[in-house]
Amino acid sequence: MASDDDANLMWLEKYRPKTFEDVLSQRDIIVTMLRFVNSNSVPHMLFYGPPGTGKTSTILACAKHMYGTNLKSMVLELNASDDRGIDVVRNEIKDFCSSQRVFSTGVKLVILDEADAMTSAAQMALRRIMEKYTSSTRFCLICNYANKIIPALQSRCTRFRFGPLKEEDIRLRLEQIAEKEGVPVEKDALKTIIQLSQGDMRSCIHILQSTFLSSGKVTCSTVYENTGNPSNEEMEQILHWLTEEDEFVSCYEKLKKMKAERGFALIDILRQIHKRILSRNMCRRSKTYLLERLAEIEHQLAFGCSEQLNLCSLIGAFQMMKTLEVLDAAL
Ligand SMILES: Nc1ncnc2c1ncn2[C@@H]1O[C@H](COP(=O)(O)OP(=O)(O)OP(=O)(O)O)[C@@H](O)[C@H]1O
Ligand SMILES: [Mg+2]
Repeated sequence: MASDDDANLMWLEKYRPKTFEDVLSQRDIIVTMLRFVNSNSVPHMLFYGPPGTGKTSTILACAKHMYGTNLKSMVLELNASDDRGIDVVRNEIKDFCSSQRVFSTGVKLVILDEADAMTSAAQMALRRIMEKYTSSTRFCLICNYANKIIPALQSRCTRFRFGPLKEEDIRLRLEQIAEKEGVPVEKDALKTIIQLSQGDMRSCIHILQSTFLSSGKVTCSTVYENTGNPSNEEMEQILHWLTEEDEFVSCYEKLKKMKAERGFALIDILRQIHKRILSRNMCRRSKTYLLERLAEIEHQLAFGCSEQLNLCSLIGAFQMMKTLEVLDAAL
């Protein structure tokens, strides 16, 4: 997985899967890809799915597997930091596709990472090129949301959906990294990292390294501290205020003070409340009501509405739930 040359690299790069075998949790995709590669029948491909699930790593491992030392001459890789407007499609990509490789045989590969950032005009221009050079070049488009790719391109590609990684796979890889890097890890800390990252392996490795660098050890509390998330005790306190405090303003003041002092973002509090409400034993109507409101607040936060207003909205949701419960009981 990692060699000695990698000693100074960020762990994310150091432990980036280098072969198909290193890619975790995406077994079906890897098996299909291997079949394509071994039978020399790689199609145009569209990789999509949430961040940190191995899309870029998989195509890089695939390119290495297909071309070995010829990789540089056979692969054109463009990502978000490269300009990929219509001119690049018309010139750079077209030149690469149409040029003859003297000593190499087989199809070439164009990797368009973060393809959802390409303009529709550039995507339109790509349609024709993909068809024209199909005998010599394959394309791999990578993005988070498939619907950001125009339907005409989608239909030219075999689609692969990368799902969030399995908890068990993440845990094993994090344990390997921690052992190799000599990181003291408390037993439950990995569980916390995995919960906070929601299947995003990049985020897991990043939290492991940054927590280790800043605190020297990885425990539940150093993980919460470093990611700016409330600890379990703090979450209990927040939920206590939300459910038990009858006075709106005093609840607001307490939460606002804690948020400011501890630097919490409302979205992180919201995610943890959501998890706790889901698993809490409470009446169905209250649970449904709260979950709906949490979704609304999350939506508002995503579109840039004020934290303070949404904090009020959150408190209001719990106050309203209590009112509903009282009414229910009176009926
Ligand atoms: N399936 C996986 N198996 C092993 N490691 C993984 C996997 N997915 C991600 N990683 C780790 O996370 C890092 C980022 O992975 P990668 O760049 O492949 O993600 P991505 O799916 O392309 O994400 P994005 O959509 O944000 O570009 C890698 O360097 C690797 O360490
Ligand atoms: Mg990527």
